[in-house]
Amino acid sequence: MAEALPAVMRFPAFLSSHKTIFLVLWISAFGSVFLWQRDIVGDGFSMFGKAWPGRSVPDGRAFAFNMTDFGGVGDGVTDNTAAFERAVSAISKLGKKGGARLNVPPGKWLTAPFNLTSHMTLFLAQDAEILGIQDENRWPLMPPLPSYGYGREHRGPRYGSLIHGQNLTDVVITGNNGSINGQGQSWWKKYRQKLLNHTRGPLVQIMWSNDIVIANVTLLDSPFWTFHPYDCKNVTVRNVTILAPVFAAPNTDGIDPDSCEDVVIEDCYISVGDDAIAIKSGWDQYGIAYGRPSRNILIRNLIVRSMVSAGVSIGSEMSGGVSNVTVENLLVWSSRRAVRIKTAVGRGGYVRDITYRNLTFNDARVGIVVKTDYNEHPDLDFDKKALPILENISFTGVHGEGVRVPVRIHGSEDIPVRNVTFRDMNVGITYKKKHIFQCAFIQGRVIGTIFPAPCENLDIYDEDERLVKLSTAQNATDIDYGI
Ligand SMILES: *[C@@H]1O[C@H](CO)[C@@H](O)[C@H](O)[C@H]1NC(C)=O
Ligand SMILES: *[C@@H]1O[C@H](CO)[C@@H](O)[C@H](O)[C@H]1NC(C)=O
Ligand SMILES: *[C@@H]1O[C@H](CO)[C@@H](O)[C@H](O)[C@H]1NC(C)=O
Ligand SMILES: *[C@@H]1O[C@H](CO)[C@@H](O)[C@H](O)[C@H]1NC(C)=O
Ligand SMILES: *[C@@H]1O[C@H](CO)[C@@H](O)[C@H](O)[C@H]1NC(C)=O
Ligand SMILES: *[C@@H]1O[C@H](CO)[C@@H](O)[C@H](O)[C@H]1NC(C)=O
Ligand SMILES: *[C@@H]1O[C@H](CO)[C@@H](O)[C@H](O)[C@H]1NC(C)=O
Ligand SMILES: *[C@@H]1O[C@H](CO)[C@@H](O)[C@H](O)[C@H]1NC(C)=O
Ligand SMILES: *[C@@H]1O[C@H](CO)[C@@H](O)[C@H](O)[C@H]1NC(C)=O
Ligand SMILES: *[C@@H]1O[C@H](CO)[C@@H](O)[C@H](O)[C@H]1NC(C)=O
Ligand SMILES: *[C@@H]1O[C@H](CO)[C@@H](O)[C@H](O)[C@H]1NC(C)=O
Ligand SMILES: *[C@@H]1O[C@H](CO)[C@@H](O)[C@H](O)[C@H]1NC(C)=O
Repeated sequence: MAEALPAVMRFPAFLSSHKTIFLVLWISAFGSVFLWQRDIVGDGFSMFGKAWPGRSVPDGRAFAFNMTDFGGVGDGVTDNTAAFERAVSAISKLGKKGGARLNVPPGKWLTAPFNLTSHMTLFLAQDAEILGIQDENRWPLMPPLPSYGYGREHRGPRYGSLIHGQNLTDVVITGNNGSINGQGQSWWKKYRQKLLNHTRGPLVQIMWSNDIVIANVTLLDSPFWTFHPYDCKNVTVRNVTILAPVFAAPNTDGIDPDSCEDVVIEDCYISVGDDAIAIKSGWDQYGIAYGRPSRNILIRNLIVRSMVSAGVSIGSEMSGGVSNVTVENLLVWSSRRAVRIKTAVGRGGYVRDITYRNLTFNDARVGIVVKTDYNEHPDLDFDKKALPILENISFTGVHGEGVRVPVRIHGSEDIPVRNVTFRDMNVGITYKKKHIFQCAFIQGRVIGTIFPAPCENLDIYDEDERLVKLSTAQNATDIDYGI
């Protein structure tokens, strides 16, 4: 696909001075406008011997560059950091003209972290692979995220991400299933050996930005969380594969929308060493002070796997609040947990208006989990009176097989779980002990046929939503972590 595209602009390596590039761009931009007009008036036109397929490259950019234009070499050995920086710098000057696309041709493009710019498309051809340099001295340190205070693993600064962006608009990372590979193995090892002094960097982190798209690519072996959109608006992840080893790849979450709104994640395959997805919004007093929720999030048509944590999680850092999340058509396979909400005293915030529809759990130890004592704190200054609110959570259509504990909703006196609804649930179980639909401090109802039999905390309604029996035991505790 990439090869068929017209190289609208192509720079020989000797034309490397910025002034020359700018002049050539200017002339070419002017020329393009002229050509478009010719195209409108005349019948077809060709450029550089190739057909001009429209008024721009397919993603709407007026210009396209090739990594080789900036001296990049995809041999797996050459350091391409400066080439990426030159490319981004050239593209940053074209924002007003609709931006540009950077084609990364087949090959292995080794690089240290670099920043993206607005109105940019990073296009990874089939068999193009961006490889992260493993030497941590090449990864710049950045201030901690304001809603996390001290950094996630260590106090003070943290490593930036391999591909980073701040205060941007209109960024697309796409391709023909090319990949971005964090080569996380050295990071995981050093983390386990406690040799790192700072929080590890994500693979791709976009902060304070809007209109972000990641599609049609593969993200591999991140040192830490794989894609971390932070305080962003309008983010789409579509048709993306995210892989890391399911064991011994610590904290390699797939996608962590953090204080983000208007997010769509669809048609993805994710198998990683921690949560496949974890929706977050800051940590304890820092997250409360930052005060930016994650909301209006749609997650659908995913196949996910997590042997260490869960398929789709909310929290545990949720201090800015999480609301209006829909998770539908989700298949979780061979996992420790399927869907999980995790929080703790001190978080504050809320998790509300969460809709799960059409979930399939195949071979999961625990299906639906709510945990309210996830007591991991940035420091001891958290506010013990900051109690998160968990409410308005519904599950419609829960199926599957080979599940040991289908439901474990562990509310507490401090953090009860309110207004939970189950409708149409039939999960094949592996362990025929009595209490495998486990509850504590939960108020809500089941509608119609539910298998296995629900806990006594819930009100019972028939298929037509007529009340059958009100519960008198909402606070009864029937949690058994021994199963
Ligand atoms: C990029 O440049 C390389 C080397 O010149 C070439 O083989 C490849 O076809 C170019 N790709 C695009 C999309 O222009
Ligand atoms: C990316 O930009 C941010 C903000 O300006 C800066 O702190 C960071 O060091 C930059 N990263 C790289 C790799 O240049
Ligand atoms: C980026 O956005 C953040 C959050 O809105 C803001 O505090 C910061 O000043 C912005 N930085 C730049 C360089 O615009
Ligand atoms: C998903 O991406 C692959 C390339 O990675 C492409 O071949 C396929 O057509 C895409 N599917 C959809 C539905 O966009
Ligand atoms: C994309 O590449 C990944 C990793 O090589 C592979 O698992 C996945 O099936 C590929 N996707 C498509 C649509 O070809
Ligand atoms: C961590 O700090 C120690 C002590 O200052 C230093 O010897 C070591 O090289 C540092 N490790 C890394 C990975 O920067
Ligand atoms: C969201 O971003 C996409 C991709 O940049 C853009 O096409 C769309 O218009 C944006 N939506 C809104 C509501 O701004
Ligand atoms: C992803 O691939 C599909 C199928 O080729 C294409 O329709 C879509 O535009 C691509 N998405 C992006 C953002 O490039
Ligand atoms: C909830 O989020 C969806 C997107 O998933 C959005 O269409 C809808 O408007 C949001 N609802 C509210 C009340 O904001
Ligand atoms: C339910 O989700 C599965 C994928 O897990 C999908 O194959 C099926 O079509 C979905 N059913 C409906 C009714 O959307
Ligand atoms: C309970 O939650 C459902 C969504 O699951 C919502 O429609 C309903 O309004 C909530 N009821 C109350 C009393 O908040
Ligand atoms: C259950 O516990 C909550 C506090 O978590 C309390 O408000 C409520 O009155 C208790 N209900 C019963 C029936 O004891």
